[in-house]
Amino acid sequence: MRRILLVAAVLGGCAQTGGSRHAIDSRQTPGWSADDEEFFLHGSMSAEFVPERVLQAFRATYPELFPGWYGLIEEASSPLPIGLSRRRVAYFGGQVSVGFNCASCHLSEYRGRDGATLRVVGAAGPFDVYSFSGAVVVSMLRTAEPANMERFLSKYLARPVTLTPEQKAIIAADPMGSKGMAPDALHDIAPADLEHGDVRALLRLFHNIRTALHLPEQLPPPVPTLPGPGRTDAFAVLSTALLGIPAKFDAPVKFGYPWNLSERTWVHWDGNNRSPLGRNVEAVLGLGAPFLGRGQLVDFALVERQTRLGESIRAPRYPWGIDRGAAARGEAHYKARCAACHDVPEDKRLFAVGEVGTDPNRARFFDARQAEATNAWLKKLAVPGYKPDPVVYRSTGKYWANDMAAVWARSPYLHNGSVRTMRELLTKPPARPRKWRHGSRDYDERDMGFVNEGTFEFDTSLPANLNSGHDYGTDLTEEQKTDLIEYLKTR
Ligand code: HEC
Ligand code: HEC
Repeated sequence: MRRILLVAAVLGGCAQTGGSRHAIDSRQTPGWSADDEEFFLHGSMSAEFVPERVLQAFRATYPELFPGWYGLIEEASSPLPIGLSRRRVAYFGGQVSVGFNCASCHLSEYRGRDGATLRVVGAAGPFDVYSFSGAVVVSMLRTAEPANMERFLSKYLARPVTLTPEQKAIIAADPMGSKGMAPDALHDIAPADLEHGDVRALLRLFHNIRTALHLPEQLPPPVPTLPGPGRTDAFAVLSTALLGIPAKFDAPVKFGYPWNLSERTWVHWDGNNRSPLGRNVEAVLGLGAPFLGRGQLVDFALVERQTRLGESIRAPRYPWGIDRGAAARGEAHYKARCAACHDVPEDKRLFAVGEVGTDPNRARFFDARQAEATNAWLKKLAVPGYKPDPVVYRSTGKYWANDMAAVWARSPYLHNGSVRTMRELLTKPPARPRKWRHGSRDYDERDMGFVNEGTFEFDTSLPANLNSGHDYGTDLTEEQKTDLIEYLKTR
């Protein structure tokens, strides 16, 4: 437990926002109404996992676990950061509850030299979802101890609370609130009991929260490599929580980029998925919807709306000045060194791990067994309204050479986000920095990427963090690299 506590405390911190703020460039979101935008930023994807009042009481009781919002982007106009939804949930006693939505991971901000902050839909945000979720889990486990329950209730009820012997006996008899419960089963919780801070109802609520998050009653062992801001080991979570195939959690990856999806068939770093609804139903069940009745409690209309919006996002244009002369020279280098892999039809853009030489863990993890198990699992779902596509997943074992559209906004680079700037990607792998800092939204226009600052130290010597391979263009001169970078800004 201590390790996760420490992790949560050390990694906390909110995205620094300052200067004036630009609205979202409407060319990124064609056809979206103001209500659609509000829904993408704050609306539900049916994955709420904790009542808001409980979350706020956890934050007040354990400030060391919640030093901030773990990189979620805050805005003055809203009580919760972007990416957190609110919805009343029956299995949490009808309380207004909070969950992640697509924007928690798929929205970011960039601050240029002029200090103005630009909001980009679909870019990988600095959210540290692993540490945030860990802080909620640790809070629940701590609160099952009587002394902490008193502290928690004092915040929850906003008055001093001392537990009675009867209340202490209730905690001692069933601290996890789960005695006699079948796997996936949820307690019925009366709204009035939560209102008044009934101890048994709260312990049962924590059971329901763990069930929605598919968590065991003990803390899982620490992961070999912390994902940090902007990354998660999505397929390890899904495999362990939904398929019952335990994973090592040794392949955290950068959040993907849902841009120009109408031009793509297969998505994800290995090009393994061709069904947006299948992927999103699975993500919702993996991130905070209970599995009871094979997904019957999922509100599919919410998933459909998030999916429709997600599928229509266009890549953002480079927002600052471009040296057109340098860009024209750089185009020739791009055509000679890069286009043969990045500008060819989709299925010719998959490259074996051995060829591209980047970290192998993610490509290896999603093997044929994973693909088969996930397809079979999706076919058995009973989410009302969801019909699985005939083909949802395949295993490629390779990495996909992405589109160059808005490559400026894909920093840090590669599927594992191990290379901070484009200039470092154009540097021979042994000369790339071994460690660097991550989490700042300040942008370095010259080298193309985020500046070397932030709360998280990215250590490329850890499993899944290799910054090797992809040495294309590294033999260009510094001047030629500058020209190539300038050209990439035009894409
Ligand atoms: C907790 C963070 C998180 C949330 C929430 C999330 N995603 Fe993602 N998304 C990821 C990660 C990580 C990947 C890359 C997975 C991989 O390839 O291993 C990804 C990949 C994608 C891709 C593929 C992009 C590409 O470059 O191939 C799309 C599209 C996408 N997500 C859409 C959505 C939508 C729509 C939602 C909401 C319904 C959503 N995501 C919610 C983390 C998240
Ligand atoms: C032999 C094929 C090949 C060539 C040549 C090639 N790339 Fe790539 N590129 C890939 C593959 C495959 C990936 C995905 C690797 C990964 O993420 O591990 C990739 C990833 C990238 C990424 C990371 C994108 C992201 O979201 O992080 C960038 C940027 C990139 N390439 C730029 C270039 C540039 C610029 C050149 C020319 C100097 C180039 N590539 C040449 C195959 C190639």
